[in-house]
Amino acid sequence: MKKVQDYYFKKAKQENYPARSIYKLEEAQKKHQFIKAGDRILDLGCHPGSWSLYAAQIAGSKGAVVGVDLQKSSVAPAAGSARIEFICADIFANDVKTQLADKFPFQVVVSDLAPKTTGHKFSDHLKSVELSRQALTIATQLLCRGGHFYCKVFQGEDFPAFVNEVRQLFKKTKIVKPKSSRVESREVFVLGLEFKGNTLNEKV
Ligand SMILES: C[S@@+](CC[C@H](N)C(=O)[O-])C[C@H]1O[C@@H](n2cnc3c(N)ncnc32)[C@H](O)[C@@H]1O
Repeated sequence: MKKVQDYYFKKAKQENYPARSIYKLEEAQKKHQFIKAGDRILDLGCHPGSWSLYAAQIAGSKGAVVGVDLQKSSVAPAAGSARIEFICADIFANDVKTQLADKFPFQVVVSDLAPKTTGHKFSDHLKSVELSRQALTIATQLLCRGGHFYCKVFQGEDFPAFVNEVRQLFKKTKIVKPKSSRVESREVFVLGLEFKGNTLNEKV
């Protein structure tokens, strides 16, 4: 197991990403191709910025990435990548909702949001689901019709209900467990493809 961790850690260093979590997005993107050139991507829980950097590369110079996190990120996109704007904020804060509303619409919302884990599986799971639900709420407000949602969540009692909520809103839903995610970790990723849209974004 340690060997796998070392492998992704070293790979991220070699490829100039600040965190090995990059591969949890890259694997899903390679398989499902949900980020496209020219897309506007919202990255929730973006610090230190690996997912934003990767999404910016795929989106290219005509795209845009907005990253939100409690912690400040300062990585710069590679040449030819989309511009990245980092917002240092709590995703539950009202002012972040207002700031993001100005940037509507997005083609993709990704969330790697994670609570500070306590080691108590049930409460860590509940906090993770709370973050994932907030990410889903933001996604339903800011995604364009046909847009995509990729979101980390720690499995547990409320996981099936969360997947069901995603299922109601997207035409296709997949559960992704990337190879780069530790086997013993309870994290999985829920991928919602083709947002059905709702009354909040009828104008798109
Ligand atoms: C696993 S890290 C993200 C790693 C990132 N995807 C990358 O590849 O660089 C999870 C992030 O969620 C952020 N986070 C947790 N709760 C948050 C909240 N309420 N609002 C904003 N960010 C939050 C943490 O600060 C942390 O940086």
